[in-house]
Amino acid sequence: MAGDCASSGTPAPPILPPPSSVSVRLPVPAHKPPRITAFANQKGGVGKTTSAINLAAALAQSRRVLLIDLDPQGNASTGLGIPRHERGAGSYAALAGGQSLAALTRPTMLDKLTILPADPDLAGAEVELAATERREHRLADALAVPDMAGFDDIFIDCPPSLGLLTLNALVAADSVLVPLQCEFFALEGVSQITRTIDRVARSLNPRLALEGILLTMFDRRNNLSELVAADVRAFFGAKVFATVIPRNIRLSEAPSHGLPIALYDPRSPGTAAYEALAVEFLARRKMAR
Ligand SMILES: Nc1ncnc2c1ncn2[C@@H]1O[C@H](COP(=O)(O)OP(=O)(O)OP(=O)(O)O)[C@@H](O)[C@H]1O
Ligand SMILES: [Mg+2]
Repeated sequence: MAGDCASSGTPAPPILPPPSSVSVRLPVPAHKPPRITAFANQKGGVGKTTSAINLAAALAQSRRVLLIDLDPQGNASTGLGIPRHERGAGSYAALAGGQSLAALTRPTMLDKLTILPADPDLAGAEVELAATERREHRLADALAVPDMAGFDDIFIDCPPSLGLLTLNALVAADSVLVPLQCEFFALEGVSQITRTIDRVARSLNPRLALEGILLTMFDRRNNLSELVAADVRAFFGAKVFATVIPRNIRLSEAPSHGLPIALYDPRSPGTAAYEALAVEFLARRKMAR
């Protein structure tokens, strides 16, 4: 009893030790390595960059995301507010090696979203890489460093070709997200990229899987959009994301302001679509585990 201690002149022992002396060792969860997703389709203008930027931005509300601009056009860099004249060393320097990746990445307007911009030298990379050692593995090697452990997701925006840059992305990636514009010939184009994914998985990167096919620029008023979407779903089944990205003028305006759609026009259908895609993307990952 406290009264006993007080009456004997001995101070009562504290019920709990002071916080400084608490030495409870909580297990430190090992951070899972980032999951790397390439946005690829050899067909131009299908929504690779728009999807990479806006899905990255939607996920960056809760996850740490690195977006790598591997396209010499540099649209992902411009779209996230880094115009050509402000670009220094970037993804080409990463492929060339010898520089710390952390020194090449840049913050963006979103706390959790980092970008590795395209640098002006990237245009010559296809030719220059052709003569280098481990030419298909340059990006995979560059990403296999402890610097990358802080990211949850790494997205790679590929150019519209199946050359050495896209090949480097496919060798570095765990999965490929294929944006597909709802238009005539869409299925023919997609078979070329899915064959390439299979070939890379057999020869250079057995981890590589098809993350999913994303229907973009869907126009409800146009019958062709519905027909193409039905055909693609009949062929690829569950591999097609349930979320469809509608044609939305605000999505095409946002890059010229250097902003993801969620900051440019939070109430637009484009923002809602990429937020829904982020939820589906994470839910599918959980199911796949
Ligand atoms: N859902 C959409 N609604 C309206 N415009 C869109 C939509 N998605 C993309 N766009 C516009 O279509 C054009 C092509 O999109 P984007 O640059 O994302 O395609 P890409 O596949 O990356 O092209 P490239 O092959 O040249 O790299 C751009 O002008 C973009 O702003
Ligand atoms: Mg692009």
